[in-house]
Amino acid sequence: MRIPDSVIDEVRSATDIVDLISATVALKKRGKNYVGLCPFHQEKTPSFTVSAEKQMYHCFGCSAGGNVFTFVMETEKVSFIEAVRELAERAAIPLPSETREDQAQATEHEGLFAACRTAGLFYYENLVNSVEGKLALEYLRHRGFHDDTIRKFGLGYSLNSWDSLVRFAEQQHLDLSVMERAGLLARREDGSGYYDRFRGRVMFPIFSVSGRTVGFGARRLREDDPLGKYINSPETPIYNKSRILYGLSHARDAIRSQGYAILVEGYADLLSVFQAGIENIVASSGTALTEEQILLLARYAQSITLVYDGDSAGSKATVRGVDLVLEKGIEVKVAEPPAGEDPDSFVRKEGREGFQKLLDNAVSFLDFKAKLFQQEGLFSNPEGKSKAVRSLVASIAKMPDELKRNFYIKMVAEKYDIYETVLFRELEQLVGRESVRRTYERRQVPGTTATGQPSEKPAREASAADIPAPERDLLRVMLDQGPSMVEYIFSYVNPEMFTHPMARRVIALIESRGESEWDHHTLVDGTEDQTLRRFIADVLFSKYELSKGWFGRGTEPEIAEPREVADKSIAALRIRGIERLLAEQFTLLKSAEGRGEQLLPYHQRIKQLQQERKELQATRGRPRLSAE
Ligand code: CTP
Ligand code: MN
Repeated sequence: MRIPDSVIDEVRSATDIVDLISATVALKKRGKNYVGLCPFHQEKTPSFTVSAEKQMYHCFGCSAGGNVFTFVMETEKVSFIEAVRELAERAAIPLPSETREDQAQATEHEGLFAACRTAGLFYYENLVNSVEGKLALEYLRHRGFHDDTIRKFGLGYSLNSWDSLVRFAEQQHLDLSVMERAGLLARREDGSGYYDRFRGRVMFPIFSVSGRTVGFGARRLREDDPLGKYINSPETPIYNKSRILYGLSHARDAIRSQGYAILVEGYADLLSVFQAGIENIVASSGTALTEEQILLLARYAQSITLVYDGDSAGSKATVRGVDLVLEKGIEVKVAEPPAGEDPDSFVRKEGREGFQKLLDNAVSFLDFKAKLFQQEGLFSNPEGKSKAVRSLVASIAKMPDELKRNFYIKMVAEKYDIYETVLFRELEQLVGRESVRRTYERRQVPGTTATGQPSEKPAREASAADIPAPERDLLRVMLDQGPSMVEYIFSYVNPEMFTHPMARRVIALIESRGESEWDHHTLVDGTEDQTLRRFIADVLFSKYELSKGWFGRGTEPEIAEPREVADKSIAALRIRGIERLLAEQFTLLKSAEGRGEQLLPYHQRIKQLQQERKELQATRGRPRLSAE
């Protein structure tokens, strides 16, 4: 069900952020804000800050940040909609009465959940308490799974019979047609009733993110079983295969605190590694990653390490999936167990330490891809080499972060002994006219100076502290003041003049709102991207920098006048652009000199730019368009 924006706004305004957070964090008033120990990381001195005025929080230690909804999402690991529901309930705001269809659907879903849960308990009972189940239990124990792991993951056994679950369901007065829709029973061909879908197999329940059973993977036990090694539940209204990652409900806290997720292929792999004490792990269940799965993971981690059997056929499928991950700005590494081993066998042999070492030695996805090419012999001839390089650059081009792209281009250049410029040209063609530029060019204002390529590259991970002061101040007034301020600012500067990659992403986010109204809350609520949300909170909590006396004004006023901050920053940004153009002209002048060419045009251009700069400085931050 979609909750209308107006209701979301209502819930947000009805929830006071200080109230909400005080329930779990001891807050003390300090100045305009409240501070406390950050619930998102371990700390001894409080750097977690809550602003009643902005209704936002931000941690200066770990850079967590957001509003009431993100607070609930991140502390309780729930989706946006679930957070809205929870806060609506807390504020006693009725959500728009669910339609009859919604209600019917909710009832249907509850029925399916109940069916899966019942079946899961039945299978577990069979495993631990039935005579026939002994064999399965022995099998699992023999493979090294502890009883504790078996219980934690709810493993089970389906009896080798056509109707054991049917009979159990009848005893429990369950609706067999619901059991069928849950994928547990199948209908007999002659229509005379149902039979068990899973027979004589080890059962792996598959959980939703919130830990409810939605389906099963069933592994063959007997060699004479005519069906495949695994039989899986079909897709059902509650089991959407592209949206489920095996183990996520068990792993999410560990993924969060470790900051990265390990991805393996099989159920057995996951269980063995988890059991060894490495819990930030999920399994793809042998299929290529989907976009939805990636977004799901991105809620908890910005980095994924793939670990799978080197010689598996899955590796090719995995590689195809990875470009998708790169596109989301998530970092991907690959760790390979030695030939003939899979994560399961490897961790059983080498233990937690050995597996940790394997993880520590994970290589970047690019290195891994290059290695696959090498194994295929591509690097041994020029055509192959260029094909391989092109494919590597294609992966790099998917990365949304310009900084990262540059870093990887340099790496490929060095490793494979190729001119950087060649790679950059290739990259530019691929990234070139992609979305970012397109969005910005629409905004090109006549009379402003396009500065060409951004050249300031902060070296560290993007945080508000890395941002050039005028960019940060402009972002902050835009976020504070909303659409009218954005319009004002972009009538003086070109979005291209923002050089910081995160600043550009915020602007792209703002642009994506088109004509519709927004404020910093709706921006935060409208993005799935946690990094971006945090960055916005970070900017909102930062102080204005230019107003600290960039133009010799001295002390910062307690409350800076937004328009004044904007004007000064606009001037600073434009001066910076001009300085960049000047530097360029001087370089051109030098080389023209060397070639003994006409110098006058350069001198003229330089003079003109210097004049422009002087005028801008003279306006002391009250910008005027230079060439109207
Ligand atoms: N898989 C599947 N159907 C198959 C084979 C595999 O759905 N016929 C999925 C399962 O999710 C399995 C994963 O792919 O866990 C990886 O396959 P594999 O490595 O063969 O299975 P393992 O889980 O490692 O099983 P085991 O170690 O018991 O052989
Ligand atoms: Mn295996």
